[in-house]
Amino acid sequence: MTEAKPPTISGVPDQKTKTCDQVGFYRRQIEGPNLHHRALLDTLVLTEKGACFQLLEPDTQTRLLLTVSPYKNGAVRILIDELQPIKERFRVPDVVTGERQCEQLRVERQDEDSVTLTWSSGCHLVRVWHFPFSLEILCGEEEVVTFNSKDKLWFETLQDPSRQTSCSSELEEDQAGSLWKETFGQFVDIKANGPTSIGADLSLHGFSHAYGLPEHADSLKLRDTREGEPYRLFNLDVFAYELYSRFGLYGSVPLLVAHKPDRTLGVFWLNASETFVKIHYTTDHQDGQTPPVKMRRIQPQTDVHWLSESGVIDCMVLLGPSPQQLFSQYAQMTGYQALPPLFSLGYHQCRWNYEDEADVRAVDAGFEHHNIPYDMIWLDIEHTDGKRYFTWDPVRFPDPAGLQHHLQQKNRKLVVISDPHIKVDPDWSLYCEARDGGHFVKDREGQIYEGSCWSGDSCYLDFSSPATRAWYARCFALDKYKGSTPSLFVWNDMNEPSVFSGPEQTMPKDAVHSGGWEHRELHNLYGFQQHMATVDGLISRSGGSERPFVLSRSFFAGSQRFGAIWTGDNVASWEYLNISIPMLLSLSVAGIMFCGADVGGFVQDPQPELLVRWYQAASLQPFFRGHSANVTKRREPWLFGEEVTAAIRTAIQQRYCLLHYWYTLFHQAHTSGLPPLRPLWVEFPKEASNFAVDNQYMIGGALLACPITEPGVQEVNVLFPGSGEDEIWYDVHSAKAYKGGRTLSLPVTLDTVPVFQRGGSVVCRSAGCGSCTAELQQLPLCLTVALNSCGVAEGELYLDDGHSFSYRDTKAFCLRRFNMLSGRLLCRRASEEGVFECDSVIQSVTVMGVKSKPAAVIVCVSDTTDVSAEFQYTEDCSIVTVTNLNLRVLMDWEIEIV
Ligand code: NOJ
Repeated sequence: MTEAKPPTISGVPDQKTKTCDQVGFYRRQIEGPNLHHRALLDTLVLTEKGACFQLLEPDTQTRLLLTVSPYKNGAVRILIDELQPIKERFRVPDVVTGERQCEQLRVERQDEDSVTLTWSSGCHLVRVWHFPFSLEILCGEEEVVTFNSKDKLWFETLQDPSRQTSCSSELEEDQAGSLWKETFGQFVDIKANGPTSIGADLSLHGFSHAYGLPEHADSLKLRDTREGEPYRLFNLDVFAYELYSRFGLYGSVPLLVAHKPDRTLGVFWLNASETFVKIHYTTDHQDGQTPPVKMRRIQPQTDVHWLSESGVIDCMVLLGPSPQQLFSQYAQMTGYQALPPLFSLGYHQCRWNYEDEADVRAVDAGFEHHNIPYDMIWLDIEHTDGKRYFTWDPVRFPDPAGLQHHLQQKNRKLVVISDPHIKVDPDWSLYCEARDGGHFVKDREGQIYEGSCWSGDSCYLDFSSPATRAWYARCFALDKYKGSTPSLFVWNDMNEPSVFSGPEQTMPKDAVHSGGWEHRELHNLYGFQQHMATVDGLISRSGGSERPFVLSRSFFAGSQRFGAIWTGDNVASWEYLNISIPMLLSLSVAGIMFCGADVGGFVQDPQPELLVRWYQAASLQPFFRGHSANVTKRREPWLFGEEVTAAIRTAIQQRYCLLHYWYTLFHQAHTSGLPPLRPLWVEFPKEASNFAVDNQYMIGGALLACPITEPGVQEVNVLFPGSGEDEIWYDVHSAKAYKGGRTLSLPVTLDTVPVFQRGGSVVCRSAGCGSCTAELQQLPLCLTVALNSCGVAEGELYLDDGHSFSYRDTKAFCLRRFNMLSGRLLCRRASEEGVFECDSVIQSVTVMGVKSKPAAVIVCVSDTTDVSAEFQYTEDCSIVTVTNLNLRVLMDWEIEIV
């Protein structure tokens, strides 16, 4: 057996991955002719699933079947498959949730050139053109999207495999060199089904901004790809990835979101094989030239060309029109964000590796000693017995359950890594069970596929098989996973999958999964399905009562249903801190909302200033974990002197104080699909000047975050969105008010990071931070009311036990609403549902934007008599603070500022 070698830790990415020119199907489509399909309009059939037409490609007489299904939620699905394939083509399982209700279609007009179909109140139309085939979607009079507008429709039909043998020698050397066999370096990919690629283009009318398509280390606004590489969606383990690049990283979400002031639109291309996306923006001035005065103004347009290696064309157009509706349509399609346990929104301390039990206990004690809250401490691969996941190194971790009990007594948790590669070891029962149960991926010859990873020669679990997922889930049962307790949670890494000995450091595409499907069909689903199985395992081990926490490196559309993801092996440099913001915004837009980047940078050693700025930025992002590689220096927050410790402490403490707000945002994500982290355009959809901003963002609807991502900064430019007349932003530290619609340069110090509360919002914080979230739950609450220019504000607070499914099963939750209007703040139920018992109280209320000193503040609880409350007024920043309130959150009450 060979020992696995980790990829080089040099900080310089290896050129192990392909460029698009090295990919056969991409070349074939780009270099191939346009195929000029015809829609055979007289083949139209209307069913309860929508409208079906045949498409004909005249040269080869290929017939395809097009199904157009308008869904009740405002999405239109365009599905194209072969009319009579010689065998079934792969359709992506497990991603689209539930059954969707289709609208009843009617033919509004039909002639020999086109058919116009309509549904709902007649305000939506689909027009299918006979030749050249195209499909337009109109909303009212507005043509929103045209499918196949550039005639790029491409569909390589399955061929009789005997053709492969009879013609292989000639085809092997075909002009694209890629039909039945393709080579990359020493790797040979034999294609059992020959060429199977598909492609199509869509024109998005009036749009000049597109987002989404993670994961790439690039800007939030997708770039025009006429220069450079197209966006590649192919999950790969890329160590210290290149910045500003469109090469594929660890996960893929084939969702592109386009936005213009009056509409947000989504195109979801449901395909799990290797995919490229080309984007071409046409602005009103072609190629930046100033048009002659009399030239017709060209409407901006975004052309999107999708190309995938196999599968069918399954393309969903989400019509919005608001950002909120778009996120809801996408969540209805792929599932809502799982409600994370509260503790997982706290701070996580990780390192490759904490050496042994004593080390873990010492780090845990360090947090207490330095008064820094945290909730979870992590163990990387070295905790296992020889990289056999589900085992413990007997010398370093002789008493793992004891360690977990020690942490659990303080309400802290342990997270351990569990990768998908299984060490080839006939003396290890788990390996034997997996082998004998048929749970491993096979090679093209039908033998168990072996590749190398951390554990040396390894086999890879076939998570595409429901039986394997069930078996794997069972491995997390408390009676099976020795040394595990209910306070142990899981980290799935290397699940692109990473194969050190494979092409592009992943699994060969001709490996074979359950059902005989080639790996090429479902490559991008591998990590998603491991994540799904692990989550199932954690839920089952508690008998279905406890919410799981599982972090995965690889992901696909829908991974939001399972848990958190992070942006992999970043580097300790300012550029990587900088790029983490657009990367997390792109993930959020594409539904992967519980996301974060390794604080400090995984590779290399951060300077203390960078470490502080990274903690500050990440404390304002959803998943908050410090992590570092094995060859880096230790970097627990207290190792760099008191000034640094204090700044990091402040950042983490402020995160904890704000956790009720984060938790409420995650509840909103769970029920409405809105991401907690939002690009400015989501909250200010009409302001085109904000559409490309990706160094600032909104946390929910109330907070504007402007992390500092450059060294030596003493002043920072802050863009305040909104119109200057109406919008007010309050500095959360000083309460100083700023008008919207301008950019100001504001002073900062090492321990400040600019955050502003939007006028019109109410934010709930806790009165302290506690040492972990369990303590935080016991603390009283404080409300900050930020008045807008009309003296109005509103906000919500969601509460439940923080860890179980009771909020869902017995409706043990409460959702409260705070409304301020005409000087009166009301606390009421926000939802008829919910029966949660808790003693939480609001201790103080701060109202920002009160122009003059009130005469009195009166409190009225339910129907009792009014009482005057203690308050202070600070004139220079127009704040009223009402203290010593002790108002139960669950009661209805009012505070009147007279
Ligand atoms: C790669 C992961 O990205 C990193 O976070 C982890 O520490 C190493 N694998 C070792 O498990």
